[in-house]
Amino acid sequence: MPSTLHGHVPSLTAGRGWAKFSVCFSYARELHAKRGAFHIANAEGRTLTIRHASQDDLQAMHKISEAGHIGWSIQQLQAELDLDFSTVLVSDSEADIEGFICGWHVCEELQVMALAVSQGRRREGIGRALLEELLCHGRRLGGLSAFLEFRASNEAALQLYIGAGFTQVGWRDAYYENGEAAILMSRIL
Ligand SMILES: CC(C)(COP(=O)(O)OP(=O)(O)OC[C@H]1O[C@@H](n2cnc3c(N)ncnc32)[C@H](O)[C@@H]1OP(=O)(O)O)[C@@H](O)C(=O)NCCC(=O)NCCS
Repeated sequence: MPSTLHGHVPSLTAGRGWAKFSVCFSYARELHAKRGAFHIANAEGRTLTIRHASQDDLQAMHKISEAGHIGWSIQQLQAELDLDFSTVLVSDSEADIEGFICGWHVCEELQVMALAVSQGRRREGIGRALLEELLCHGRRLGGLSAFLEFRASNEAALQLYIGAGFTQVGWRDAYYENGEAAILMSRIL
């Protein structure tokens, strides 16, 4: 996952490259206008409800982020909800949020920024369903490819992303604050 997960959400004025986001805003607005819930059958045949996150989900997402060592503060999660080019989806059970995923739509690219599932609900297909739904959104918004990165020691993430059709496209030594390397993966949307 990008270093922004462990530091700050970059400012929109933070560099020349950010200007390109503006061309994606119209696509993102179109997406955000359709904030309905999607019902997806996961591997066990259970129906998952996946929907766009709202303010009311912030505390639950923060809890999952902490438990999953994603390390996003409430403020960072709030910033993702506010960004026009960011999509935040949650898997919603009657009891609570089970997991969330966040991705940025940057022109023809989807950058997966964070994915985490509550510890008690792992290995039920929730992570895969959230990822598939985000990829689907990226495609609908005109995305051609998806990128993501994560800690090299994260076997669960590696297997999940391989299973979702991602292949390794890069390696970054000492990318994380503890010196750990990052694996970069990509797939065509
Ligand atoms: C990675 C993570 C999101 C997976 O979520 P999940 O809901 O448990 O994943 P799924 O049940 O959808 O599993 C899909 C596939 O991923 C792989 N996978 C998931 N967890 C795994 C594990 N612990 N070990 C090996 N492979 C694993 C498997 O291939 C699995 O398919 P299978 O169950 O048919 O074998 C979850 O473990 C998590 O929240 N981890 C902490 C945060 C994190 O590491 N996020 C990703 C990088 S930032």
